[in-house]
Parts: sequence; structure tokens; C-alpha cells
Amino acid sequence: MQKINLEELVAFLKEQGFVFQGSEIYGGLANAWDYGPLGVELKNNIKQAWWKKFVKQNKYNVGLDAAILMNKEVWVASGHIGSFSDPLVDCKKCHSRFRADKLIEDFTHGEITGDGMSNEQLTEFLKTNNVVCPVCGQLDYTDIRKFNLMFKTFQGVVEDAKNEVYLRPETAQGIFVNFKNVQRTTRRKLPFGIGQIGKSFRNEITPGNFIFRTREFEQMELEFFCKPGTELDWFKYWRKFCWDFLVSIGVDEKKLRYRDHDKEELSFYSNATTDIEFDFPWGFGELWGIASRTNYDLNAHQTHSGANMEYLDPDDNTKYLPYVVEPSVGVERMLLTVLFSAYDVEETKKEDGRVDTRVVLRLHPALAPYKVAVLPLIKKNHADKANEIYDMLSDKFSAVYDETANIGKRYRRQDAIGTPFTICVDDETVNNNTVTIRDRDTMEQITLPVDEVASYIESKLKF
Ligand code: GAP
Repeated sequence: MQKINLEELVAFLKEQGFVFQGSEIYGGLANAWDYGPLGVELKNNIKQAWWKKFVKQNKYNVGLDAAILMNKEVWVASGHIGSFSDPLVDCKKCHSRFRADKLIEDFTHGEITGDGMSNEQLTEFLKTNNVVCPVCGQLDYTDIRKFNLMFKTFQGVVEDAKNEVYLRPETAQGIFVNFKNVQRTTRRKLPFGIGQIGKSFRNEITPGNFIFRTREFEQMELEFFCKPGTELDWFKYWRKFCWDFLVSIGVDEKKLRYRDHDKEELSFYSNATTDIEFDFPWGFGELWGIASRTNYDLNAHQTHSGANMEYLDPDDNTKYLPYVVEPSVGVERMLLTVLFSAYDVEETKKEDGRVDTRVVLRLHPALAPYKVAVLPLIKKNHADKANEIYDMLSDKFSAVYDETANIGKRYRRQDAIGTPFTICVDDETVNNNTVTIRDRDTMEQITLPVDEVASYIESKLKF
């Protein structure tokens, strides 16, 4: 399997219609990306895969779609207004701006994260370790100051403090404030979880690495409510569940690792946190955070709103605040992980013996933007039959019809965008109602009656 670096991947995704620079014709908007025809399909398939495994098929969990704009008091209670900030520092010489903790992380090649260090400790580390400005090489920083990451705007026509609202920086709080609504209406007993997929916004100081860290992104979050004392068992359960999910959708397991947070790094309310990290071309980075959050969030909302968030346990008639385990992952990071796992350049042999190369996006069929491509061998002889087959298949799967260029080129095009099956419609199809189906990965072809094609593809989409 051949590696691809980030620049090559960005160019490839643009060329194929997966991801474009946002507002490109106006010179772009820094860190904004638009998902093209193939990107939106891939993204939707990732979200559907998560929803299927974490909500639809999971007997413990149900779903929710809460509003992005929430009452400001939610963010006071959750601590986001007070402390959802990054340590910002400027180089006095060249005026470049950095996150102090990221400077340390990069300087130590990820050995020390700077998470949990106070501003004083960060300043001290920069000085004593001579962590110079990566842009101009000088050691002359401003004092570190806190920069709140939430985007603020106003609801209604009057722009005053009363009307301030924030774009949510995580979907989780929409779940916590609805805990009682969901529990009451579904009559769920503990343990149970509430899953949600939706947009989040953070005014990141140092966005970058393409879609790895952006200011607008989507999260897939599960808040799993359980009886106090059982949370560490459930933490272990979800930690493994997330890993297995990644492997099941085709993420390269050799590039995954767990990184447990030690005492210094743990948030004050958490009694266990692990990141599942992926080995990106720039090094290991957080893909999925799994945190045991105790009853911190429900307690904060109960205290701040005055609403009772307790659960009445029907087993022993006691009332308590459930503990929570939260697996939280970004859609775009998962997309990037899936793409880095799937991209391959393979050497093949032409009929005359010469070596050729082909790009193959070895996506799991369930994630592939198109499940099947229908290609008439000769347009004037086979297009009618091919269109008939396309209509039949596109009713069930996302399918594509292509009658341009020679058949070899059309196969290569589908390999590069990850289409797992290509159907060639030829004289045999017209005369005997059979088609040849070519497998993207092995390039082997089998012949099937037309009316068995849909169930054949269907059987390959399971994960
Ligand atoms: N509710 C917990 C929470 O939001 P987090 O570690 O801040 O925790 C969870 O975020 C996940 O969301 C991360 O592991 C990552 O996959 C994704 N994520 C966070 N910030 C992101 C950003 N700026 N751009 C893209 N994805 C992001």
C-alpha cells in the first residue's frame, strides 16, 4: 500500500470532487471547506454507519437532534463561558500567533501536551526549554492570555448582552439538557445512551491540517447514562466498541492506538479518559475521545437551572444523578482517517506485459460514494439496456452511469473514487440478460443474471 501525503490528498480530493476550498472564487475563506458530490456521499455514509451501530442497532441507545442555538445559561452551567479557552501567545518579533500548549506539543514531538498546565507553567516551560518562535526563531513572547473559543452572535434585532447567543462548541450539552425529556418519554431504565450527530463551531486559534482541525465541523456524540459505580466498566466497553467500529468500517488498525490520559491531563471531573489516535502523515493525532465524565454535567445543569435531573431507580426506589460515559468523534476526522486508510496506488501489468499503475480507493463498500457503476461497452449497442439496469439499481443504491471514454479508462475512474463494483453491459446482457461484475480491489470479474445483481451488492454492504 502506497502512502499519500497531505498535499497530494488535498489535490486528489479536489480533482475528484470530494472536497473544495470554501468560497474559492473569492479567494477562499481560511479553513473553510465544501464537500462536493462524492464528499457529501462519503460523509453521509460515515454518519449513517455511526448512527446504525450506535443508535439504530444498539439496544441501549436512542437518538436526538437538538438545536444549535441554546439558552446562554447552558454555556454558563457547562463551564464553557468561564473556561472553554485556549492559551494564546504572540511572538513580539514577527507577530505570529500560537497556542502555547501546541508550541510545547510540537517542540516535544507530542511527548508533552501542555494540557492542564497553568499559564505560569506554560510560560516557564517556553522559557526554560528555549521553545523559540517556529516562524522567526526568536524567544520573545507576549504574556499568555485566555481566548474563548465560542463564536458569539445575537438573536433578534437588538445587539445587546440580553440577546447574546453562542454557536454550540459541542453537541453534548443538547443531550444533557434533554436527559429527563428523553428518559421520561422513552421510559428507559439505566443504563441507556442518547446519540446525536450535528454541527459544532469553535473559533480555533490554530486550525489546520486540512479538515483535521476546522472552525466548523460535525460531531457524533453519545452520552451514556449509567448507575454510579458501574461507569468504569462501561468506559471499557465503549472504548473497545469505538475501536471495533473503526476497524469494521475499514480503518487501518495498524495505524490506531489508545492514549490514556494520565492524572495531570485528566479533566477535574473525569475519572478516566482515552483518546483513540490515528497515525496521520504529520504524526499521531486524536480521532476519538472517550471520557468517563462522572455526574459533572447533569449536576451542573441541576444546580444552575434548578430543574431536578435525578433518576428514580425503580429497582430500589433511590434517586441519584446518573454517571456518564461519552464517546465523541468528529465526522471530518473520521473521513480523513478512512481516506488515509483507503488510498492506494497499485502496480498492474498490461496485456503486453508493461507495468501500469492505478489509483484505488479501497473504501469499505458501505462507505463508498457510489456502490455500483453501470458501463455500456459500446454506447450505440448497449446504452438502452445499461440505462434500464441503472434505473433498477439506482432505486436501491447510489449508482453512477458512465458511457464516456474507453472501458479501461472508465474502470480506472471508478477505482479512483472507490466504487466497489462496476457492471459492464455488452451483447451477452442484451441477448441473455447477464452482466459481468468487476470487483474494484481484485479486478476479478464474475457473470451474474441481471436480477441477481442487487442482492449480490446488498450482501457486500454489511459491516
Ligand atoms: N463533548 C466532548 C468534546 O467535544 P472534544 O475532545 O473537544 O470533546 C471531540 O471533541 C471530538 O470532536 C474530537 O476527538 C475530534 O474528533 C472532534 N473535534 C474537536 N474539535 C475539532 C475541530 N476543531 N475540528 C474538527 N474536529 C474536531
